[in-house]
Amino acid sequence: MFQSDLLKGRAIFITGGGTGLGLSMAVRLAELGAKLFLAGRREEPLRQAAEKIRKAGGECGYATCDVRDPAAVEAAITAAETQFGRVDTLVNSAAGNFIARTEKLSPNAFAAVVGIVLHGTFHCTLALGRRWIAARQPGTVLNIVTNYAAAGSGSGFVVPSACAKAGVLAMTRSLAVEWARYNIRLNAIAPGPFPTEGAWSRLIPTKEYEERLRNYHPMKRFGRHEELANLAAYLLSEQSAYINGECMVIDGGQWLRGAGEFNDLVELPDAMWEKMEQARKPR
Ligand code: COA
Repeated sequence: MFQSDLLKGRAIFITGGGTGLGLSMAVRLAELGAKLFLAGRREEPLRQAAEKIRKAGGECGYATCDVRDPAAVEAAITAAETQFGRVDTLVNSAAGNFIARTEKLSPNAFAAVVGIVLHGTFHCTLALGRRWIAARQPGTVLNIVTNYAAAGSGSGFVVPSACAKAGVLAMTRSLAVEWARYNIRLNAIAPGPFPTEGAWSRLIPTKEYEERLRNYHPMKRFGRHEELANLAAYLLSEQSAYINGECMVIDGGQWLRGAGEFNDLVELPDAMWEKMEQARKPR
């Protein structure tokens, strides 16, 4: 789909790059020629991810870092700069989420998710944005939100995430305008259901619920990691240089399925349609 040197010469800092969709994006971006620097809280997944990327011929470094801590973010970015000379691209993929009845949440539970998703994205974006502005160098940012943020609907049972991701989307659009004069471009991807260990263990309570989710999906399937990774590659590449402040939904039509008043008619059997068509024909 892409030339193998699409991202050659680019140095990408990716949060949450040791696991899940962050890892899938990191692997794909490295395949396309970018140098990758992974940031995450746990050393072991980062080490394994970096090894995987290097084994495949890519260049990769990593640092442990909790994105909620601005000093830790600064230190990780400095480590990336030491390794690569400069960083020109940021992917904010670190996330925190779990299902819960909102009335049961503690203040700390809300703060944990908002801290990772919204504050963490802000800390990383600001740390790199300031550097790019000072050095008069261009920069590209990609934020990972969700389809319930893009739809503007939010979602019950994940209220901290819904609030935080809506904030990230607002940040993406706001800074896309404010920083365009510095040649800094920001976009977002809003995924629907993409199975990952982290998300599935926290968001999918039972096998039956997973089946229901799949069956309710218009395409009757979940997303494949490479589908999202390729979209990320495009939005980070110069091929999308005029796309700025955009949020691209990649969910196979999942959120629209719940939005159209008559969409549940997909469940009506053909025999019923035919019966109705017969009844309407002039006698
Ligand atoms: N339901 C209700 N409250 C929960 C919860 C759940 N399932 N999981 C955690 N919490 C609460 C904790 O009880 C704690 O609040 P308290 O101090 O008042 O008891 C608070 O959230 C913080 O939890 P803790 O485990 O100490 O925080 P953490 O910083 O280690 O973890 C989370 C952050 C909670 C977001 C954790 O789920 C995480 O690490 N997630 C990262 C990966 C992820 O979420 N992936 C999916 C992305 S889609």
